[in-house]
Amino acid sequence: MTDLTGTPQIFGTWEALTAVSHHYAAMNLHATHLANHWRRNSLSSDYWAAYAALQIPETVPTGWLRRDDVNYVLSYLLNELFENCAKFSAGPEQTVHYQAWFEDERMVFQFTNHITPAGERPFITLIQELLTSDPDELYFQKLEENAEQEISASGLGYLTLIKDYGIQFGFRFRPINAEITAVDVQAHVSLKEAAF
Ligand SMILES: Nc1ncnc2c1ncn2[C@@H]1O[C@H](COP(=O)(O)OP(=O)(O)OP(=O)(O)O)[C@@H](O)[C@H]1O
Ligand SMILES: [Mg+2]
Repeated sequence: MTDLTGTPQIFGTWEALTAVSHHYAAMNLHATHLANHWRRNSLSSDYWAAYAALQIPETVPTGWLRRDDVNYVLSYLLNELFENCAKFSAGPEQTVHYQAWFEDERMVFQFTNHITPAGERPFITLIQELLTSDPDELYFQKLEENAEQEISASGLGYLTLIKDYGIQFGFRFRPINAEITAVDVQAHVSLKEAAF
């Protein structure tokens, strides 16, 4: 159901971050361009992962992620998020907005794509399951379900990133009009090893 008040709905680890910051970078894309030329997803992910990783010194103190590790994790994370925008954007608005904040101890990535108001409910149900379940248990439950159903969307993307890489996600749904809801997905990545 659409939120008739037009108030955004927020789930998980969400932080209001401003674009007016020296840590900030952004890019605008189009979901159909990503979907029609699939390699644009991995290309964009690899580019921004390498771009971000360059801020990591060649040698890091114990307890911090190495540059190669940061590059690898971000490449995987961003590819997942670009692909989700390509796969699940729906309705008349197909723009995709990528934003990143490169800070000293963490990086935050925010992807915005658009869906129809009718698409909100199933996604929110899934997000609530994701945020309230034990990641290991939910992972094996999903593996079993997938084996039984042979569904194309495996539903393991966010879960794997939470379970194996300690990434924290936030989700925001912003009603734009009767046909469009903006979906903002935030990924918080710690540059310290403990959260890895
Ligand atoms: N950006 C998005 N916009 C709209 N719906 C989304 C978005 N990202 C995820 N979803 C919904 O959440 C579900 C879970 O996403 P997730 O990335 O975990 O799995 P998946 O993409 O279905 O499969 P996998 O990532 O394992 O290939 C998706 O199937 C889709 O229904
Ligand atoms: Mg996915």
